[in-house]
Amino acid sequence: MSNENLNPLRKKIENLVSNYQQKNDFTGWFEDIYTDALGNPDQVPWAKMQPHPCLENWIKTVNLTKKKALVIGCGLGDDSEILAQNNANVTAFDIAPSSIEWCKKRFNNSSVNYLVADLLNLDNSWKNSFDLIFESRTIQALPITIRKEVIDAIATLLKAKGTLLIVTRLRDTEGNIDGPPWPVSEEELSQLSEYGYQEINRIPYIDPNNPSIKQALIEYQRK
Ligand SMILES: C[S@@+](CC[C@H](N)C(=O)[O-])C[C@H]1O[C@@H](n2cnc3c(N)ncnc32)[C@H](O)[C@@H]1O
Repeated sequence: MSNENLNPLRKKIENLVSNYQQKNDFTGWFEDIYTDALGNPDQVPWAKMQPHPCLENWIKTVNLTKKKALVIGCGLGDDSEILAQNNANVTAFDIAPSSIEWCKKRFNNSSVNYLVADLLNLDNSWKNSFDLIFESRTIQALPITIRKEVIDAIATLLKAKGTLLIVTRLRDTEGNIDGPPWPVSEEELSQLSEYGYQEINRIPYIDPNNPSIKQALIEYQRK
């Protein structure tokens, strides 16, 4: 696809993703985005500098006191912080060291344990150990070719009876598509049932800047 008419940041991302993918590296470009931004969130296309509205609403319905929560691909930390403000014990990680540095600088009195880590290479001791897992827009930021590994990696982290929240774009077809992002399909999500996950709620989300894009917060419980 020609990217001549895209805005400069979008064009930059497409070029970065393509260059890294040629080296079989699906994640190196995230660090480039954070470092090149030089502290300006306008240069990080997903940075909203506030918690996701679906998470804010969900939090009002639960008691998170002392719950052991994990935020995957935490970006600039707003979702992690709101979980911590609601008394969860939060660990938040991202593969991009500069995003973690940025979180620590923004929230320097935070109780969140911010870490650099790769979802696809986590310590075995993390398996089956969290009461709540929150992932927003990280699955969709990784190509469909590695989706099975990505969903497997997330699925193993939750305790029995724990809650998994996924915020994602959704696609209606099962075939491959151009990205990023690469919205998630129903068949891909159904992989979670192999790990005992049951969907218990799905709240559609309409992004005022992108109203035509199908998105949702999906809540799962593990048996
Ligand atoms: C589209 S951004 C979303 C950030 C944040 N969750 C949000 O919704 O604002 C995807 C994030 O996932 C991180 N990421 C991508 N692949 C990862 C991996 N394998 N392990 C950990 N973090 C990853 C990126 O660095 C980036 O911060």
